[in-house]
Amino acid sequence: MTASYQSKDELLSALKWQADIGIDCALSDTAIGLYAAETPKIPTPSAASNSAHLPQNRPLITSQATPPKTPSATPHATFQATEYAENPASISDSLDRGGSGGQEGSGDLSALTTLEDLKSALQAFDGCALKKTASNLVFADGNPAADIMLIGEAPGRDEDRMGLPFVGGAGQLLDKMLKSIGMDRQNVYITNILPWRPPGNRTPSPEETQLLWPFLRRHIQLTAPKIIFALGGSSAKLLLNTQTGILKLRGQMQEIDFSDAGDGSLLIPVLPSLHPAYLLRAPNMKKQAFLDLLQLQKYNK
Ligand code: URA
Repeated sequence: MTASYQSKDELLSALKWQADIGIDCALSDTAIGLYAAETPKIPTPSAASNSAHLPQNRPLITSQATPPKTPSATPHATFQATEYAENPASISDSLDRGGSGGQEGSGDLSALTTLEDLKSALQAFDGCALKKTASNLVFADGNPAADIMLIGEAPGRDEDRMGLPFVGGAGQLLDKMLKSIGMDRQNVYITNILPWRPPGNRTPSPEETQLLWPFLRRHIQLTAPKIIFALGGSSAKLLLNTQTGILKLRGQMQEIDFSDAGDGSLLIPVLPSLHPAYLLRAPNMKKQAFLDLLQLQKYNK
């Protein structure tokens, strides 16, 4: 056992967390993660190159993050950074025009150079109908300087009320999952594909996802995490630009370019995993989620 446990009580409490999230049998012949007598050597994430963050034995697929094509996709409206700097309202007006009626909204948000700028731009953006039915913008939670970014789907009722992601039942399970690998919200930064609750918690439409994708991509660019943990099928499919189901995708890290230019200058590994809301309905899948969490743990400073 590692020396990280100070006492028998701490060890028992850690084991209880495992049991609570459904780990009730050994998953491999050799101990891994917190239970390894000697932690296996994993390449240390380096600040120099995101491609160096991938454990050596993982398949590495490099592709550029582009949102999936939708039948209704229309040519992008484009927005100039300088235009935004001079007149932020003009950008949101343009996005509003581009986004109304479920059209694709995409643009150069490079003039938004801080998370506060990005949040203000979203608050000023009236092009998404979800904003009208939502009570609050749900921007993010956790530590913006963390190496790990978690991206979920969309706020639910509790998140909408509180203006914070993952604070309802799924959020409580997420906290337990993080705790099971010795982490909490200070070790991660959490956001969603959509910052507003879809009525009735329905799945985001492709049009909504397309429309808000430039904001999410800018969010990723501004935080530049060392890894993205994609929670659930919607997030994994968007970030990996695929239609493959989450049960096939989970646990397989892929490196994605999140740069605007598509020149490989912002390569970030994306690790898809199961959504906590799904795990609440399918607790037998928690073992798979835990394996993913053990991969994620290696990226925690
Ligand atoms: N589900 C999500 O995907 N995000 C939240 O913030 C809450 C529930």
